[in-house]
Amino acid sequence: QLAPMIAPSILSADFANLAAEAAAVSGPGPSRADWLHVDVMDAHFVPNLTLGLPIVQSLLKATDIPLDCHLMIEDPARWAPPYAEAGAHNVTFHAEATDNPVAVAKDIRAAGGKAGLAIKPGTALEPYLEILRDVDTLLVMSVEPGFGGQKFMPEVLDKVRAVRKLVDSGDLRLLIEIDGGIADSTIAEAAEAGVDCFVAGSAVYGPEDAGAAVAALRAKAAA
Ligand code: DX5
Ligand code: ZN
Repeated sequence: QLAPMIAPSILSADFANLAAEAAAVSGPGPSRADWLHVDVMDAHFVPNLTLGLPIVQSLLKATDIPLDCHLMIEDPARWAPPYAEAGAHNVTFHAEATDNPVAVAKDIRAAGGKAGLAIKPGTALEPYLEILRDVDTLLVMSVEPGFGGQKFMPEVLDKVRAVRKLVDSGDLRLLIEIDGGIADSTIAEAAEAGVDCFVAGSAVYGPEDAGAAVAALRAKAAA
C-alpha cells in the first residue's frame, strides 16, 4: 500500500470559480491534492446533472493537478474515450453502465488515459474480478452515486479488503479508490481496509480552508 492519496471532489466546490477552487488545493506539501476528482453526471445513470467535456477541457488548462474523471453516465463506450484524449489522467466509468467494460477500458488506455472501473454500493465484486486485470483503478462507491454530502456506508469496505488482498499477494495491480462520505471521522476506517486514494467533496470544500482540509484528511489516513 502506497502513501494515501487525496482527491478533492469539485462537486462540492463553487462551479462558477473552478480555477480558484482547484488552486485552493494546489499548494505545496500535504495540502496539495494528488488528483482532482471531477464528477460527470448525465441525469440518466444518476438523478443529477453536472458537467461534461467542455468544462473538463477548461479545467485542464486551469490546473496542473491530474484530473480524475468519474463518469456517472450511460453509454461510456461512446463518451469515455474523449476525456482521455482531452488529457484527463484517470477516466473511470461504471460497471453497471456497460456490457463490455474491458473494451471501454481498452479504448480509454488507447486514448492515453488510465482506466478506472467504478461499482455502486450494492454491486458485487465477484462478477468483475477478471476485469480488474484490465483496469488501473477500482473505484468503490461508499454512497449511492449522484450527490455529495451523504453518509458513508462502511459495509462496502468488505470489497476493499478483498481487493487489497489480491493486490498485496501480487494477483492484481491497481489502485483502490473510495468515493462518498469520506471525512475526518471515516477516513481512518477506510485506510485500514486498504484504500489507496480517497475522494472527498464536502469534507474538503465545506470548510473555509480546502487545503488545510486536504492535509488533515491525509494525516488521518496515514495514522
Ligand atoms: C457522488 C460523487 C462523489 C461526491 C462525494 O456521486 O461521486 O464524488 O462528490 O461527495 P462527499 O465527499 O461529500 O460524499
Ligand atoms: Zn465521484
